[in-house]
Amino acid sequence: MKQAFSVRRAHMDDVKGIHSLLLQTAQKGLLLPRALIYLYSHIRNFWVVDAEDGGIAACCALAPVWQDLAEVCSLVVREDLRGKGLGRLVVEACVADCRELRIEKVFALTYQEKFFTHIGFEIVDKSVLPQKIWADCVHCPKYPDCDETAVFLTVGGDRTHG
Ligand SMILES: CC(C)(COP(=O)(O)OP(=O)(O)OC[C@H]1O[C@@H](n2cnc3c(N)ncnc32)[C@H](O)[C@@H]1OP(=O)(O)O)[C@@H](O)C(=O)NCCC(=O)NCCS
Repeated sequence: MKQAFSVRRAHMDDVKGIHSLLLQTAQKGLLLPRALIYLYSHIRNFWVVDAEDGGIAACCALAPVWQDLAEVCSLVVREDLRGKGLGRLVVEACVADCRELRIEKVFALTYQEKFFTHIGFEIVDKSVLPQKIWADCVHCPKYPDCDETAVFLTVGGDRTHG
């Protein structure tokens, strides 16, 4: 029988699991690791999916950056649970959060542009993203040579159900 997964807001007990999932993925160069103190202080941004074994199966965060703009970040699905719709589930939760917060636009910087375009985002030139988003980027070891692709979604319709 197909396993049913559901997405929920993260809480403090999830932080160590999120930290370890991000660290393992960061070691492969796919995203930035996050310090425990960052995760504790930004826990309200995070959505998670539980794995049957009690661990964290997937996580993703919505980080508002301006009145009309937010970033989807820290997106990871545990390797053995990929391809089951969990990535879509957590990104959709972030997009729903945008609607609730009345944020009109959401973006991500990613190497997984095909995943994002498949779920309704479009690829944009990084230069169209406003300069204020780079505040976080200066802390990235790759700054200023970002080789990630910018993807963008106008929130409103139900485009993540593509
Ligand atoms: C990218 C990632 C989050 C995708 O998660 P996932 O759970 O495997 O993806 P889903 O199963 O939700 O996929 C949703 C849809 O996108 C498609 N898709 C997923 N990855 C894809 C890819 N690389 N190329 C094209 N389509 C892709 C799936 O086929 C699925 O399509 P369907 O709904 O029509 O069947 C996961 O591969 C991951 O954790 N990668 C490593 C970490 C990473 O790079 N994070 C991104 C940082 S921004």
